[in-house]
Amino acid sequence: MTPAAALPPGASRTEPRPDGAGERGGDRRLRVLHLEDSAPDHELAMAHLGRAGLGVDVLRVDSEAAFREALAARDWDVVLSDFNLPGFDGLRAQRILQDSGRSLPFILVSGEIGEDTAVAAMRNGASDYLLKNNLARLAPAVEHAIAAHRDRQARTEADRELAASRQRLSELAQHLQTSVEMERAAIAREIHDDVGGSLTAIKFDLAWIGRHVADPEVQQRVFNALETVAHAVEASQRIMHNLRPAILEQGLVAALQWMAAQFENRSGIACSFRSSHENMQLPAGVPLVAYRFAQEALTNVSKHAQATRVTIDLSLSRGVLSLEVSDNGRGLDRADLAKARSFGLRGLHERAGTVGGWVEVSSSAGGTVLMLSVPMRSAGAAAPPDGETAFDQDDDHDPTGWGTL
Ligand SMILES: Nc1ncnc2c1ncn2[C@@H]1O[C@H](COP(=O)(O)OP(=O)(O)OP(=O)(O)O)[C@@H](O)[C@H]1O
Ligand SMILES: [Mg+2]
Repeated sequence: MTPAAALPPGASRTEPRPDGAGERGGDRRLRVLHLEDSAPDHELAMAHLGRAGLGVDVLRVDSEAAFREALAARDWDVVLSDFNLPGFDGLRAQRILQDSGRSLPFILVSGEIGEDTAVAAMRNGASDYLLKNNLARLAPAVEHAIAAHRDRQARTEADRELAASRQRLSELAQHLQTSVEMERAAIAREIHDDVGGSLTAIKFDLAWIGRHVADPEVQQRVFNALETVAHAVEASQRIMHNLRPAILEQGLVAALQWMAAQFENRSGIACSFRSSHENMQLPAGVPLVAYRFAQEALTNVSKHAQATRVTIDLSLSRGVLSLEVSDNGRGLDRADLAKARSFGLRGLHERAGTVGGWVEVSSSAGGTVLMLSVPMRSAGAAAPPDGETAFDQDDDHDPTGWGTL
């Protein structure tokens, strides 16, 4: 029973029915808002609920104002509504309920209700409709509507939590990608400054010693040491390049051209590179994402594709940067993409996300195509000022293409 507060005009309270033995198995009482202008019809409906063993706290209202007020005043489990009401009707009541932002089961209980009205009510989201001359169905309909509503709410909540958790996971993965790049850049800098600097100094000293000793045996030792130092310099440059591709300082086009040539030399797989522009002014972060994308795609080609030809296509068109790596190898399938211990393609997807882009994979008998797309604010735009977002966010695309990366 609701507390003894002032009732809005057009509202009246009915005591819970004692004849139905009250509550079920300790369940709390159902809070029923009954929109009904006929007191006897209201009593009859409550009697049916009581007889079915439902303990209810009910408020009867019969005007639009009282209905609005009651909706705002407290929580309800279900709204029962007559169809013909003074000054308005059940369909309008349903709209008022929807507009109120409250999500509640709504059951039409009416003397006469045409098929069209019933269909309209159900389309608008009513849980059920009943005729007043068949109130035996009322209690099961109320119970079913409430249970279905709770299920729906639980599902919605679970979906919301799942989406939020996916979002958090993706943010974490993107953050990790960015941190890894920063860490790599820092290590590359240290190798350059400390190791590189020391090796250069050793090289000069060795050369000086070589020039100032006459003993051929010592000279040979110096020569060997110089060779070792040269190897070490080469190795540290290679490591630095892998950590942070310095070639990118000459621009993405030059870097990809170099990568294609290196790949062809190393793997023996013919690799061609095409670009729509000779130079591209890209926002900060994009060249490195594109570079890592091509790097992983080519590594995959040499590891998995059994291809004889690869093409790298870079284009900037209609405000979207596209980088496509296609091979003529054996292709891949969904099971390949779902491999538990494969992170290359998954990582690319997260990496693309850090600059507002996405990755698509497609495969056929003719081979595999990997495509990175990054929308720019405007084609060929220069890097935006600090703090500005460089990209339009487009929610319409499917960021994973086919398959879950
Ligand atoms: N170009 C390709 N041609 C054929 N199969 C491919 C190609 N690229 C990827 N695959 C398949 O897709 C799988 C997933 O690739 P992914 O790059 O995610 O992982 P990986 O290369 O196996 O491992 P890593 O985590 O080292 O990258 C590969 O194991 C391979 O079976
Ligand atoms: Mg890989």
